[in-house]
Amino acid sequence: MNKKPVTKILFVCLGNICRSPMAETIFNKIITEHHAQDDYVVDSAGLIGFHAGEPADIRMQRHARNHGYNITHISRKIREYDFDEYNYIVAMDDDNIRRLNDIAPTLEAQSKIVRMTDFCRKYSVSNVPDPYYGGYQDFEHVVSILEDACNGLFEESRQ
Ligand code: 4NP
Repeated sequence: MNKKPVTKILFVCLGNICRSPMAETIFNKIITEHHAQDDYVVDSAGLIGFHAGEPADIRMQRHARNHGYNITHISRKIREYDFDEYNYIVAMDDDNIRRLNDIAPTLEAQSKIVRMTDFCRKYSVSNVPDPYYGGYQDFEHVVSILEDACNGLFEESRQ
């Protein structure tokens, strides 16, 4: 019997303490609700290692909880072999895409880089804005865009 291949998704942002761990958590909830956990490997990573080893930003954790999510991810920096390991390297903004293209070891690796907001169905935006220096509404906006994009990415990856 043929087994469906596992889809491996790595969400990436700058620090891996706000946007990408939130995206990972939302996506994990979606696949759990669809009983599809066995079909996916999901992780997140940052382009800088400044917060490596730390849990998600306390503000992001609070907004996550208010929307019914629990972020358990510990920050880590992206590694070169992540480009081999994952099918989708999902970037949050233009700066992430630039940096990912700089460190992608091959053209095939570059071809795996996708833009998170391209999976949005409701929002018409091209970046998930960095909320680190922002306020309450900025974090709420991040959760809303990521929920929209994660649902779109899930649908697309099922086809
Ligand atoms: P993230 O947010 O990329 O969504 O995790 C940031 C977290 C930390 C920093 C910048 C953005 N920082 O400069 O430390």
